Amino acid sequence: MEENRIADWNGERRMIQKPRGTRDFLPDEMERRRAVEKRMRDVARCWGYREVCTPAFEELELFTARSGQSIIEEMYVFEDKGGRMMALRPEITAAVQRMYLNEARGTPKPLRWCYFADCFRYERPQKGRYRQFWQFGVELIGADTSVADAEVIMLARDLLESSGVSFTLHIGHLGFMKALLSGIDPKEQRIVMRYLDKKDDAGLKGHLAVTGRSDLYSSLTALLKCRSLDEVTGVTGELPEYARIEETLGLLDEMEVAYSLDPGIARGLDYYTGIVFEAFADNLGAENQILGGGAYRLAHLFGGDDVPSSGFAIGFDRVMVSLGDAAEEAERVVGIVYTQEGRTYALQVARAFREAGLRTETDIMGRNIGAQITHASKSAQFVAIIGKREQESGTVTLKDLISGEQRELDLPSAVREVVTSGPRG
Ligand code: HAM
Repeated sequence: MEENRIADWNGERRMIQKPRGTRDFLPDEMERRRAVEKRMRDVARCWGYREVCTPAFEELELFTARSGQSIIEEMYVFEDKGGRMMALRPEITAAVQRMYLNEARGTPKPLRWCYFADCFRYERPQKGRYRQFWQFGVELIGADTSVADAEVIMLARDLLESSGVSFTLHIGHLGFMKALLSGIDPKEQRIVMRYLDKKDDAGLKGHLAVTGRSDLYSSLTALLKCRSLDEVTGVTGELPEYARIEETLGLLDEMEVAYSLDPGIARGLDYYTGIVFEAFADNLGAENQILGGGAYRLAHLFGGDDVPSSGFAIGFDRVMVSLGDAAEEAERVVGIVYTQEGRTYALQVARAFREAGLRTETDIMGRNIGAQITHASKSAQFVAIIGKREQESGTVTLKDLISGEQRELDLPSAVREVVTSGPRG
C-alpha cells in the first residue's frame, strides 16, 4: 500500500519492515498477552507488590556499574543531543534501585514493587529471544531474611502457575561457587562463574588452564552435580550461609514449592549476592529460561546506602511462546445492525450495550442489513437488529447468531440477555 512506502535515498520506494528482533502484535495476540498479564498482576497484588514504572532509557552508567559483561555488550547505547551517553534499559532491576534511591529511600522497609515493561538487548534473534522483550518482575527492597528469600520464590511460583505454563524451578546460592573460588580475585571469579552458568565445560577447562588454576576443575564440576545441601558441603566444606539456606529451603518445603537444588546457577548479571533461582519451561527448547532472579545489592553502587534486596523477572514473551496459541475464553461481542431510519436509535442502543461493559460494534460502512449481519457474524455472537419498528416501539430484535434464535425485547431486557449469556465460543 502506498502509505506503507517511503522514498529511500535514491528516490525509489520500498516497504518498511519492523526492526530485526522486534514483533508486531495483532489484536488476537494482544488479547492473549493481556489476559496472562492480568492474571500475573492479580497475583502480585495479592502478595502486596505494587506497580512501579521507570524510564525506557537511562544514563549508560547505571547499567555498566554491575550488569555483567554480556549484557553490556548487548546494550542499545546512544548519545543524546546534549552529549550524554544513554542506554535503552536491558533490564529493570538497576533502574528500580536508582528510583528507590531517588524517590523512596526514606520509605519504611520492606518495599514490595512489581513492574511489567519492555527491555532491549541486541541479541541474535530467534524464537524466544528478541531485541525488544517484556519482563514481569518484582523487587523486594530492604529485607534480608530467609522468609524474604522464601517469599520471592513462592511469588515466582505463583506467578508462573497463574500463567498456565508448565515449568521447573531451580534454586542455587552464589556462596557455593564462591567458597571454591575464594582464593581468586572477584573479577576472575565472575569469569569462571560465567563459564559455569553457561555449562561451558570446554571453556571452563581452558580458562582454568590458562590462569593456572586447573586444580579447581574437579571440585567445581563435582559441585555442579550436587543435588542436596549435604552433598554441597561435602564439596565446599562448612559454609557460613548454610543455616540461612537451610531455613529458606525448609520454608519452601513446608509450603510445598517444587524445586531442585542446582549449585550450577551463577546468573548472567553481576549484582547477585546470595540465593539465586531460575525457572525453565518444560516444553521449550534452547530459550527455555522463563524466569531468573535472586538476592542482590546494587544501591551502594549508585551512591546510596547498601540495601539488601531480592527479586526476579519473568520473560513474558517466552511464557507466551510456551503457552502457544491456546485461545482465551472468547469475549462476548454484539453487532448493532440497523436500517437508515433506525440509525439514531441504533447508536443509543449501542451505548446501552457498551455501558453494560459489552464489546459493541455498529456498521459504519453503509452496508445493507443482510451484509451487516454477515459481517457481524464474523466476530459477534449476538446482533441487535434495529429498524423503523424497533425505533418506534423502543425495542430491539436480538438474534443469537449461534442458536439462530431471534426475539423482540425491550432494550434493558436485551442488554440483560446478552450480559447473562456468559462467554460464547
Ligand atoms: P535475566 O535473567 O537477564 O534477569 O532476565 C530475566 C528473564 O528475561 C530471562 O529469564 C528470560 O526469560 C527473559 N529474557 C532475557 N533476555 C531475553 C530476550 N532477549 N528475549 C526474550 N526474553 C528474554 C534480569 O533481567 C534481572 N533483572 C532479574 C532480576 C530482577 N533479578 C533481581 N530482580
